[in-house]
Amino acid sequence: MKVVVTLEELRAARRTLPDPLGLVPTMGFLHEGHLSLVRRARNECVSVAASIFVNPTQFGPDEDLDAYPRNLDRDLSLLEAEGVDLVWTPTDEMMYPQGFQTWVTVDELAGVLEGAQRPGHFRGVTTVVAKLFNAFQPQRAYFGQKDAQQAAVIKRMARDLDFLLEVVVCPTVREPDGVAMSSRNSYFDETQRKAAGMLYQALSRAAEAFAAGERDAETLRRLMSETLATEKLARPEYVSVADPDTLEELSGPIERALLSMAVFIGKIRLIDNMLLGDGA
Ligand code: PAF
Repeated sequence: MKVVVTLEELRAARRTLPDPLGLVPTMGFLHEGHLSLVRRARNECVSVAASIFVNPTQFGPDEDLDAYPRNLDRDLSLLEAEGVDLVWTPTDEMMYPQGFQTWVTVDELAGVLEGAQRPGHFRGVTTVVAKLFNAFQPQRAYFGQKDAQQAAVIKRMARDLDFLLEVVVCPTVREPDGVAMSSRNSYFDETQRKAAGMLYQALSRAAEAFAAGERDAETLRRLMSETLATEKLARPEYVSVADPDTLEELSGPIERALLSMAVFIGKIRLIDNMLLGDGA
């Protein structure tokens, strides 16, 4: 496995890798969720590359950029064990050199849900992902369904800007109690970690009601909110039943939906989601 830091080194190394190349962009502190993306890429592509870059432009001023967990040596061993061919670990200055002033933004899709709560977040994500696509020139790029809106926004960007690649969205990997794997789970103490399970319980309650025939968007939203309210450590920021393609909030009877939520457990903000109906 080759590990490179500069863009020049990356381009030289990329030229030696046969197509199709699968790219797994990450912010490091890897867990089974990331590794599931790497394994999928390894199965589907001749070459596999990953990036490790804690992207400062997708963090708001009051968010956890400085505290974001990092462990490069461990990440590299994990990627090597999965048979990754190439890893890029650029610095902030390389990604955003002095004078940087070009941004990629997606409008409506990035303005709701996470975008409404975290202004500027998706501008940072789409800009860095566009740069990663340009740098690696992959034929496929792998993202997790855990960040459903991110996946939708990146797909939109790839289509709108004619990136010649397939955006592959892989299922959320969960802990035995249903908590979605996330680097931020490492912040929890034992009580908070237990409370975090309530997101999955809330989503499951609505999904079970849907499976039993409930179709009213408002009722599904209420079932999730009621379930979250049983956990005193949980402070919901939003609870959504939205169209999976446009992410517009739904009302009345639905046939398919993206259930999603952002919930604070203490100071830690978690997101999770589930798809209902066709495509779930
Ligand atoms: O999902 C992430 O880890 C990040 O948002 C990504 C896609 C690597 C961009 O920084």
